[in-house]
Amino acid sequence: MKLLSDLNVFDAEYIPEVVHFRDRQISSLLANLEPALRNSSPVNSLLVGPPSTGKTCVLLRVLEEFGDCYTAYIRCPLAVSAYRVMARIFESVCGHQAPQTGYPMVKLYDAVCDRLIQDGKALIVALDEIRVIEVKVINELLDILLRVEEEYGVKVGVVAVSHESIRLNPAVQAVFQADVIHFPLYSYEEMHFILAERARKGFGGKFEPDAVERVAEYAFRHSDLRLG
Ligand SMILES: Nc1ncnc2c1ncn2[C@@H]1O[C@H](COP(=O)(O)OP(=O)(O)O)[C@@H](O)[C@H]1O
Ligand SMILES: [Mg+2]
Repeated sequence: MKLLSDLNVFDAEYIPEVVHFRDRQISSLLANLEPALRNSSPVNSLLVGPPSTGKTCVLLRVLEEFGDCYTAYIRCPLAVSAYRVMARIFESVCGHQAPQTGYPMVKLYDAVCDRLIQDGKALIVALDEIRVIEVKVINELLDILLRVEEEYGVKVGVVAVSHESIRLNPAVQAVFQADVIHFPLYSYEEMHFILAERARKGFGGKFEPDAVERVAEYAFRHSDLRLG
């Protein structure tokens, strides 16, 4: 008899099938991005909350609904320079690798915009854990990403995810105008529910209820579901 039925559920990157207790955040983000499906301008969004409050889960679940337009999901710790972020956007939209270096960033983005115009599709850029990028670079990036709307008439929406608010310079703030979606810490009961479900999936019901309680207490004490 196998003790572990689905090991993936214990992975820190695991995205559960149902993201519980986040209905409000999911519907706000869906509503903000929905215009992209009609090639209209999405409402830029900022997901803010402490670590392990479901920001990445919600974002990835919501992006799954946007298969009919272009989406670029970028984990910023893996792309900390403006060029790397732009290269990832280029790859998501144009479907092939960008030159590693030595190519003007604006040209990469021109190619992206050409594709959007050609296909009549909007683009959603999701920048997860954006605070690992220097604020100066964030300003530069958002400026390039969002100015195109005026210049080329393409529709681009940005979703930024951060554990703290970001101070943007006034010119960028004026174009970014993000709707802020808050992710509060889970209560003990919510954590217990989430972890019990994870244990059910991972151990196929072969665990003692007491064990889940102890894990939930530990995770709650450290305010981090990932420790469950
Ligand atoms: N509402 C939820 N339901 C089920 N699992 C969740 C929920 N929220 C978070 N998790 C789990 O907790 C961990 C951290 O969630 P994540 O979305 O990465 O947090 P954040 O991006 O806010 O740091 C992940 O393993 C995720 O699967
Ligand atoms: Mg995250």
